[in-house]
Amino acid sequence: MAALADQPAIAGNAVVKHFAVSGAFAASPAQGLQQGDEARMSEQGFKRFRRRRVPAAAAAPSADPAPSRPLTAQEAPQLPAPLPEPWDRIRQLPFDSAAQEQAGLPLVSRFRAGPAAKSFDLLRTRLLHTLKERGWKRVAVTGPAAGCGTTFSAVNLALSLARVPGSRTILMDMNFRRPGVARALGMQPQGDLAGFLSGSVPMEDLLLRPMPSLAVALNGAADQDAAELLHGRGCAAALDDMMLRSGADTAIFDLPPVLEHDDTAAVLPLVDGVLLISDGTATTAAQLAACEKMLAGHTQLLGVVLNRARRADSPVG
Ligand SMILES: Nc1ncnc2c1ncn2[C@@H]1O[C@H](COP(=O)(O)OP(=O)(O)O)[C@@H](O)[C@H]1O
Ligand SMILES: [Mg+2]
Repeated sequence: MAALADQPAIAGNAVVKHFAVSGAFAASPAQGLQQGDEARMSEQGFKRFRRRRVPAAAAAPSADPAPSRPLTAQEAPQLPAPLPEPWDRIRQLPFDSAAQEQAGLPLVSRFRAGPAAKSFDLLRTRLLHTLKERGWKRVAVTGPAAGCGTTFSAVNLALSLARVPGSRTILMDMNFRRPGVARALGMQPQGDLAGFLSGSVPMEDLLLRPMPSLAVALNGAADQDAAELLHGRGCAAALDDMMLRSGADTAIFDLPPVLEHDDTAAVLPLVDGVLLISDGTATTAAQLAACEKMLAGHTQLLGVVLNRARRADSPVG
């Protein structure tokens, strides 16, 4: 059972750390323009520029008078149909609830009335409050050691976030040492996450939507050189572009343990804050202190979540 140990502890001023422009530039119709050209143009110059770009057929009046009868299907102009927005282009792959049940997966979506579901809803509400206040969207989830319940918490928090009406949540398995999101959700690992993070695979080819409001990036291939991939320039740009074009409200990143790999340190500049998962049956105070020391100065510690809490520790019983 998960329980909140602390109120999320937040220090410092609100800063919007991520300013994304790559998607907007790619979508600009004025591809021949250099950045800043439009701002420098005089009004006359701009009119000349517009005239030059009017297609000849539209500029010259048509010699043929318009037919007085309705156009046939063949004669009607073939207007390009508007493209669906990027979120709607992400492939839908509904959960296999029978397989989830058979595998006995501890998912809050299967036990809506249980105390763990209530704990995750409480965590979600507090987290959303903090993120909204700060204008933040990207949250990493990590723990001091493997087995603390990082993936369990990341997955259940994402499921809880995705229940907010009209919201969009992305869950990414950024644990290249021991990927676990696909297994935790009862899905088949698929998609080229490394390709996406290096900038060669678009978000629409990576993400899957098991719920209309939830997109997941699964990870099937463990990669021991992940830190270099995560440090790469393409990685920051790919995530900026994904956040911009998907219109996601929140992105949850499932990470390897802080104290075991430097992959986590590589991801910290890419997120707004971190949730630290502590295992009520195994994590020591010294481990938590070591994690906080490692995170300090690199990111905001949004809170410490007590997993596998004893009943007496749980705020929701
Ligand atoms: N509170 C919990 N209740 C039930 N099962 C849990 C809980 N926390 C973790 N587990 C299970 O323990 C195992 C290890 O958890 P996991 O989230 O994969 O750890 P980590 O990602 O930190 O290595 C998984 O099988 C997970 O489902
Ligand atoms: Mg894990």
